[in-house]
Amino acid sequence: MAALRTQVFERGQAMCKVKEATMETMGVIRSRKSVRSYTGEPVSERELELVLYAAQAAPVVMADYNKFHLTVITNLGLLYEIEQAGRNLVRGTFSHPLYGAPMMILVSAQIHPGRENTMYSSAAMIVHNMALEATELGLGSCCIWYPIAAILVCPETLDRLSLPEGFEPCCSIILGKTEEDFPERPVLTNRMPVHIIA
Ligand SMILES: Cc1cc2nc3c(=O)[nH]c(=O)nc-3n(C[C@H](O)[C@H](O)[C@H](O)COP(=O)(O)O)c2cc1C
Repeated sequence: MAALRTQVFERGQAMCKVKEATMETMGVIRSRKSVRSYTGEPVSERELELVLYAAQAAPVVMADYNKFHLTVITNLGLLYEIEQAGRNLVRGTFSHPLYGAPMMILVSAQIHPGRENTMYSSAAMIVHNMALEATELGLGSCCIWYPIAAILVCPETLDRLSLPEGFEPCCSIILGKTEEDFPERPVLTNRMPVHIIA
């Protein structure tokens, strides 16, 4: 992986990111993978800052950024509670649905009836931007959905997230240091059928 030499600095309210050297876009895309083993070491403040920067750069429907909310969870008690909720939802399938990751970033949105698709799609964009940045930083990441489904039916855990009124969790990503490396993987071009209508 290309060494990261990245600077983030403030310019007024806006954050500007200057990269001297980065992986090529397709290199990052090919290297990204779901990581399911973590050392437990915390994500540094700097790494978090860069991952959140990538989140803020994501496209969302109608540029309605105020309809989205990010929650960074490193509290071990809360991570355990979310993991427990996920485990209860799909009994026996996964013993550690958060894989011991020390951080989860939850993307919540104000879901309006009839706009669910756009809100969930936008949340996925935000999560994927974070996953790509994590890959570039050499951090493990995995998009996590079903513990989120568990939170939705667990009012006490939902309460502990202190989400703004009317927001609900859509999707999340776990992040952490890993002993895994990130070789570029071949992409199978026939994984999904493609129908071209000319
Ligand atoms: C919306 C979404 C939800 C996912 N939820 C989970 C999850 O709860 N647990 C998990 O281990 N992986 C989860 N994944 C990861 C997928 O299983 C993974 O992306 C897929 O197997 C392809 O592997 P790769 O990410 O290594 O390319 C999720 C992925 C997406 C896009």
